[in-house]
Parts: sequence; structure tokens; C-alpha cells
Amino acid sequence: MHQDLLTFLNWTKEDANKLLQFALDLKQHPQKYGKLLEGQSVVAIFEKPSLRTRVSFDIGINKLGGHMVYVDSQGAELKKREDPVDVGANISQWADAIVARVYSHETLNGLADGADIPVINALCDKYHPCQALADYITMHEHLGAVAGKTMAYVGDGNNVTHSLLILGILLGCHQVVITPAGHDIDPKLLGDIQALAKAQNVNLIFSNDMQDLKRCDVIYTDTWLSMGDETPLQTIKDAFMPYQVNRGLVEAVQASFVMHCQPAHRDLEITGELMDSEQSLLMAQANNRMHAQNAILSYLMTDREL
Ligand code: CP
Ligand code: NVA
Repeated sequence: MHQDLLTFLNWTKEDANKLLQFALDLKQHPQKYGKLLEGQSVVAIFEKPSLRTRVSFDIGINKLGGHMVYVDSQGAELKKREDPVDVGANISQWADAIVARVYSHETLNGLADGADIPVINALCDKYHPCQALADYITMHEHLGAVAGKTMAYVGDGNNVTHSLLILGILLGCHQVVITPAGHDIDPKLLGDIQALAKAQNVNLIFSNDMQDLKRCDVIYTDTWLSMGDETPLQTIKDAFMPYQVNRGLVEAVQASFVMHCQPAHRDLEITGELMDSEQSLLMAQANNRMHAQNAILSYLMTDREL
């Protein structure tokens, strides 16, 4: 039976930790893994634009000896042409895994239902698991074990927030999420996230008040408008500006580092000065996208144990 990586919600803390360690080994000893995906093909379907995800998957698969075929759905949802179940079944005739960036999480469920090969979520409306793994690898490299550290997310409660919460809790990282009112995380996911935090004995704070952001190890932010959100920037700018990640905030909460999944908007959600500073982990995060994804691909596409 094949496994997919759609959310990390069904993972154990042991496996999450092993996956992170495996990604570090892949990064440190690439010569050991150059033939892991020899002769294998991955189809990567993108309904939305991408720089980091597309390029890091393509180059990463190549480094493991495999081959990637890029399918651009040109801004249109797959389901407008064909049921995702049938797309998944067709791709399974030729390829060994599917990577998909989609508007709706339901499209991923459809692809996974139709496919008999692994399906990997390369971002949807609810989750961005590959990003979260790269981010916690980055945190581990700069701060040591993430268990017991505190990640503070400031900004729009979105797909990146959800995945940072889920994987971070599994890894034992305390979580603070500060969002403007009306831009909280998806209430449908709140129960699962709270239950996970309780089970893992991880502190969880949600607030609309910046005063609730106290001492933390890293501050993370993301765009105020995610792909597919047509709200005019001016409409949300006033609400979000007090939540900007800037030098004053970093100093007030004594954060060691700032993080952002990118694409970033200089002097909106984060100041350009911080992005370029020594406290910025943005390029380290981008670098780790490939290692995170290669660990996921290797785990799902081969018989190796974590
Ligand atoms: N962070 C990230 O997923 O970047 P892209 O949208 O460029 O792939
Ligand atoms: N929340 C952002 C992440 C981009 C990588 C979006 O969905 O557009």
C-alpha cells in the first residue's frame, strides 16, 4: 500500500523526528543517495505559480537519479478539465509519484484516491507540509533540537501556519500564533491542532493581540495575501500593518532569528532590512526545501525505513 504526504496530521512524533534526521543525513551525505530514485519518474502538477517548490523538486529529484515531468495547469483547476481521481489514475500508469500544488485540498484527496502511487502536497489552500519540514530543519541547524523551543508566527493564519503548527507540535516545539482579528487559523483545524498539542505536551497560544507575543526563539511570517486571494492589498494593509515583523518587534521579544517561506514582500509583512540581516534564515529555509523534499520522496518512493 502506498503512502501520501498530504498533511502530517497522521504522523507520529517518532516518525516526524526520524524524517527530519534523515533529511539532515541526505543533505550532509549526498553521495550516499545519488541513485535512490534511479529510473523513477515524478509528475509535478502546478495549478498555481511557484519558484522555490518547482525548482527545488526538479533539481532535487535529479540529484537522487530520478526524473521530473512538469505539468502546468495554467492557472486553471484540474477538475475543470477532468476529475482529479481520473488524473491520479492516469498518471499512475507511467509515473512513480505525483507532486501537486492545488487550489483546493479536495483536489489532492481526489488525486490520492485515484492514484496507486504516492501523492505529495506541494501547497494547497490548507497546508504546505514540505515548507514546514524545511523550516524545522533550518531551525534545528541554527538553534539545535527544536523540542522545547518557541516558534512565534505573526500575520495571516493560512496554509503555512497550519503546517508549521502540525509538524512543530509533533517535534515538540511550543507555538504562538498572533493574527489580526478575522484572519485566525481555520476554525475547522483548531480542534485537531489543540488535541495534538495536548497529546504532545506542547504550549499553544492563539491571540489577536501583539502584547501576547513574549520571549520566543524565532518569529515567522508569511504574505498577507495568499495565492488565489483577490482582496485588494489596501483593504487589508491597515489591519495587518501593526503585525509587521520589524527590528523593534524582534528586539522586544528577543528572538534569535526571523523566518519567512517566501515569496516575501519587503516592508509589508517583514522589513527589507530584517530580510537582509544576519538574523534572517530566509535563504537557509529556501536551501532546505530540496533536502526536505528529497527526504519525503525517498521515504515514500522506496522501501527504506526512516
Ligand atoms: N515557499 C514556496 O513554496 O515558494 P514558491 O511559491 O515559490 O514555490
Ligand atoms: N501562504 C502563501 C504561501 C506561499 C508559499 C500562499 O499560499 O500563497
